[in-house]
Amino acid sequence: MTSAEPAEKLLSPVLSASWDDNRPWTLATYRRHDGYKGLQTALAMPPDDVIALVKESGLRGRGGAGFPTGMKWQFIPQNDGKPHYLVVNADESEPGTCKDIPLLFANPHSLIEGMIIASYAIRCDHAFIYLRGEVVPVLRRLHAAVAEAYQAGYLGKNILGSGIDLDITVHAGAGAYICGEETALLDSLEGLRGQPRLRPPFPAIAGLYACPTVVNNVESIASVPPILARGKEWFKALGTEKSPGFTLYSLSGHVTNPGQYEAPLGVTLRQLLDVSGGIRAGHRLKFWTPGGSSTPMFTDEHLDVPLDYEGVGAAGSMLGTKALQIFDETTCVVRAVTRWTEFYAHESCGKCTPCREGTYWLVQLLRRIEAGQGVDGDLEKLLDIADNINGKSFCALGDGAASPIVSSLQYFRAEYEQHLAERRCPFDPAAATVWADRPNAHPSATEREVHA
Ligand SMILES: Cc1cc2nc3c(=O)[nH]c(=O)nc-3n(C[C@H](O)[C@H](O)[C@H](O)COP(=O)(O)O)c2cc1C
Ligand code: SF4
Repeated sequence: MTSAEPAEKLLSPVLSASWDDNRPWTLATYRRHDGYKGLQTALAMPPDDVIALVKESGLRGRGGAGFPTGMKWQFIPQNDGKPHYLVVNADESEPGTCKDIPLLFANPHSLIEGMIIASYAIRCDHAFIYLRGEVVPVLRRLHAAVAEAYQAGYLGKNILGSGIDLDITVHAGAGAYICGEETALLDSLEGLRGQPRLRPPFPAIAGLYACPTVVNNVESIASVPPILARGKEWFKALGTEKSPGFTLYSLSGHVTNPGQYEAPLGVTLRQLLDVSGGIRAGHRLKFWTPGGSSTPMFTDEHLDVPLDYEGVGAAGSMLGTKALQIFDETTCVVRAVTRWTEFYAHESCGKCTPCREGTYWLVQLLRRIEAGQGVDGDLEKLLDIADNINGKSFCALGDGAASPIVSSLQYFRAEYEQHLAERRCPFDPAAATVWADRPNAHPSATEREVHA
């Protein structure tokens, strides 16, 4: 693909293909788009063959880490006499990440069909969806879609006469980012405080209720039915060798047409900007995140980095959730990083000291730098604290909190130094004076929007 190619050649709508239809969330619309055909194919195969096919397709988890989905299913011990569980992670709370919620809102049956196939493969008869609790319209839609699936014989006893049973429980969380971390999610689902568990044992051995459990992201599971329906070769023909397939990129921020763009893995930001109208008129790209705020930021030097796991990794960041947050030259990088760090400090679950204490101190330092009250040595202190969090925390939230600090100092140290030298925010001196007067204030998001 080249950046000159038109949208219809670059994009590969599969999960989003029906989003513009009339009432796309209904079973009737889903069936019109070949919905539940993958399930029929799966039920005609032995469960182990379904696992093998998903493994051979090369599908990698879309929740952030890119772990091979078929391999995860294969880890579930068989003939162990214990119940097996499938838990779908629909917590989606990473800043900038906006793909699972729109997918569930527009096309909930793609997830339900994928869950039936996955449950059949791992021999599970009770599966759960852990949904971010704030999104009540999606919760209602999911409940309605699950009820529709029961009525049509896709859920419950003896699915489509196959002798297989499956129940799905939809559970709404209470809106904590840490409950997206898979073991914190399991604790929360069990009714405990959502905090990460020590591993091993891994969920595949002792997950929900201490039984073998697969935890997968919404998009990972929803990608399975088309693989069954159209075949692994079709899937592998999209994307790159080590990151095959299609995926949802969420484009947000200073772009002309933000939204979800479904394309083969390995496209570049330049190509996605070409099909989405580019950076807003009259402005230019300053920095962006390839996979949400917890992934090291990129700049305009990285417009041609292939957005797959290998390409983004080689360029020094992570593909994460493919949340492309775009910032133009009007944005103060110190302010953006301060806002993200405030989020991580607020969402730190407090279980381990480096993250609990470190994120608090990062916020104090960043606020005073932004307010023009920073002192010599503050940048070294920021890096030192970030270093004490990164790789030394109990879970990946800590690493994620350190990412924007380290990467913004790598690319924009001069801008931080300007805040120190001029004793003000060069982007918004008036706001800096206000915050200088209130250095310990806890500003709300609305008071401190990143410059628009
Ligand atoms: C702080 C934190 C938050 C996370 N939030 C989510 C989330 O909202 N959704 C998700 O699928 N994975 C999230 N993850 C990753 C999960 O722990 C897990 O890797 C993922 O659900 C596995 O699914 P996959 O293999 O299908 O990608 C989060 C991880 C961390 C450390
Ligand atoms: S890194 Fe942060 S979120 Fe994770 S366990 Fe430690 S305190 Fe909790």
